[in-house]
Amino acid sequence: MQGLRQSVSVPANLRFFIVQYQGVVTRDAAADADAVKFLCLPESIASGSFCLHCFWQVTGQTYSFTAGQPMDNLREKLYWRISATVARTLEDLMGSRNGFWNDRKILVTGHTGFKGSWMVTMLSALGCRVTGYALAPNTNPNLFDLLAIDRLLARNEFANIRDSERLKTVVCESEPELIVHMAAQPLVRFGYADPHTTWDTNVMGTVNLLEAARACASVRAVVVVTTDKCYENNGSLWGYREIDRLGGHDPYSASKAASELVVDSYRRSYFSHAGVLVASARGGNVIGGGDWSSDRLIPDAARAVAQGESLQVRNPGSTRPWQHVLDCVDGYLTLARRLLDGETKCATGYNFGPEPSSNITVAELLARVKKAWPELDWRADVSSAGALHEAAFLYLDSNKARRELNWVPKWSIDATVDATAEWYRAVQADPQSAASVTERQLQAFLSHG
Ligand SMILES: NC(=O)c1ccc[n+]([C@@H]2O[C@H](COP(=O)([O-])OP(=O)(O)OC[C@H]3O[C@@H](n4cnc5c(N)ncnc54)[C@H](O)[C@@H]3O)[C@@H](O)[C@H]2O)c1
Repeated sequence: MQGLRQSVSVPANLRFFIVQYQGVVTRDAAADADAVKFLCLPESIASGSFCLHCFWQVTGQTYSFTAGQPMDNLREKLYWRISATVARTLEDLMGSRNGFWNDRKILVTGHTGFKGSWMVTMLSALGCRVTGYALAPNTNPNLFDLLAIDRLLARNEFANIRDSERLKTVVCESEPELIVHMAAQPLVRFGYADPHTTWDTNVMGTVNLLEAARACASVRAVVVVTTDKCYENNGSLWGYREIDRLGGHDPYSASKAASELVVDSYRRSYFSHAGVLVASARGGNVIGGGDWSSDRLIPDAARAVAQGESLQVRNPGSTRPWQHVLDCVDGYLTLARRLLDGETKCATGYNFGPEPSSNITVAELLARVKKAWPELDWRADVSSAGALHEAAFLYLDSNKARRELNWVPKWSIDATVDATAEWYRAVQADPQSAASVTERQLQAFLSHG
């Protein structure tokens, strides 16, 4: 990121277009002297993936980047995907050049958690001044402490989202222009065990957050993080879209569907009149280094490896939309940026799921993980399967984010699995390496096209 930021010097009001695609000239490269021109050379199309090399020229200087994307069998989408990748990369560069995120005041709830720690790490790398509001970490080890996240924060508040007065005070005192709300009771099994806390935290916590946002004049945009599980799961083999019915069998899923309704009601009743843009974000099943939550697949795998035990797997046949935490965080920030840019039409709900090729079963995921992490041993635990209802199939359709936000996931399922395995293996061998492996993966992600 730093390298890109320093090397790019582009004129304002930049225009860009593809001049050559697969050897076919699509536009006269000499025309429009002040525009950016791309030469696209996709490779490996036959092998089911392609690598896109782009070269662009600005005022006599040549820059280049390489973007790898998994390719599904929807050939007709290929050209559109390339355009989206190019546009987004350029937008990233422009954003860096203009310092879009630099010095912005942002409040993140849930910053002590798995996603929250990655979110603060990324926002900090982008130059933001972040206030964090969440309970203190409750696992040992935890990513927040391993990365010394408190040192990246302008203010660190260990407090309960159910404490509405304290939340309002912290929001008003820290004067954020953007709030990313991730604090939640996020576990399906805990939800079954303690539905009251789950509903209170996820629904009234969201009410408290939006009330605090209403009370604070600096707030211009809010992103509320819910989940892929907020849709009524009817066993559909198609991906859920934003227009599909909300619902949920278990307390966690239903409470997140309810928090979607809270967001929609507040948006219509209060924020749309006040010019504050509020959106909700529904990510997939997130994996990546640094999660130690209970009853989640990868943390359970990490614990089993550390103890030299075999991982007992409840539902190896369940299919989920697996994605890397950085892709998910990137989706939230892409949406946030549009809101901060004043794009009223983006104040709505968005899915941020992986490519269709990342919708695989638990067994398939573990087989891939084992390739990158041979110490992992697992077996199906038929005795506990089906004890609590869990949907067999869940897939998100994220075309709305692709079309309206130009957002595409950067990492394939293989890159996601490799990064996750690399992280846990490195940190299990040497806990001191957590910061360096996180930083390395963040830089690899940010410099990916
Ligand atoms: N991890 C996933 O696969 C996944 C998938 C979809 C959605 N989500 C959502 O993403 C968000 C972050 O999840 P995560 O995976 O990082 O979980 P996590 O358990 O690692 O983090 C949860 C965060 O919420 C905070 N929190 C919980 N109860 C709180 C309370 N009463 N007051 C204040 N803070 C409280 C915790 O302190 C922590 O910072 C959640 O809203 C979750 O529902 C996660």
